[in-house]
Amino acid sequence: SSAAEAPAAPIGPEYKDKEEKPQATVSTPISSQNVHILPQTPQLIALLTMIRDKNTPRADFIFYSNRIIRLLVEEGLNHLPVISHPVTTPTGRTYQGVKFEGKICGVSIMRAGEAMEEGLRNCCRSVRIGKILIQRDEETYQPKLFYDKLPADISQRFVLLLDPMFATGGSATMAVQVLISRGVPEERILFLNLIASPQGIKEFAEKFPKLRVVTAFVDQGLDEKNYIIPGLGDFGDRFYCI
Ligand code: URA
Repeated sequence: SSAAEAPAAPIGPEYKDKEEKPQATVSTPISSQNVHILPQTPQLIALLTMIRDKNTPRADFIFYSNRIIRLLVEEGLNHLPVISHPVTTPTGRTYQGVKFEGKICGVSIMRAGEAMEEGLRNCCRSVRIGKILIQRDEETYQPKLFYDKLPADISQRFVLLLDPMFATGGSATMAVQVLISRGVPEERILFLNLIASPQGIKEFAEKFPKLRVVTAFVDQGLDEKNYIIPGLGDFGDRFYCI
């Protein structure tokens, strides 16, 4: 079920000639206004290389994942509306600035999405965070909602939905449906993930055309067990267990 071969590109700063730069696999491009892929910089590619490597120990996996999560949150915040906010500096001059308009909250899809909460808190102090637990039903194999705890005024907020691996989109679809049922408009949901599959992206574009996705990388596809390939394996296991 894998998609086309992912593109390779020369990665590195300009002081090296293009021919001397190492080739790295970069994200599959997506031509959708609502999908924002982080710039494929040497920095990001090096961080992704660390967390994709099966020999990376857990402590390093956590450290480098957190750096990518931070980049995702910073980029996600760029998609929130701002209003004009002039301030006076200590030199007595005016700086024509902006400030965020409106309230936000995070919603993590348990368990792996909880790994992204700290990155969100590091950028937005005292941010409200809700949780959704979705698991596969043992009998029907369909994703099933087991638990949710969301801020009471969530319909008034922008929601940063957190799940590191956007594979088939089954759990994420259910999570978005829960948010919509609580009155959050689709266009106020931003789904932040580290690695997405083309299948998940396509599914969301069809189901939720106004929802925005912010990802570090769109991978080749899915294997027969619906793991993202090349991917990084089970994110939750690598972050929490092994
Ligand atoms: N969840 C993971 O942790 N990894 C995948 O590849 C897909 C879903």
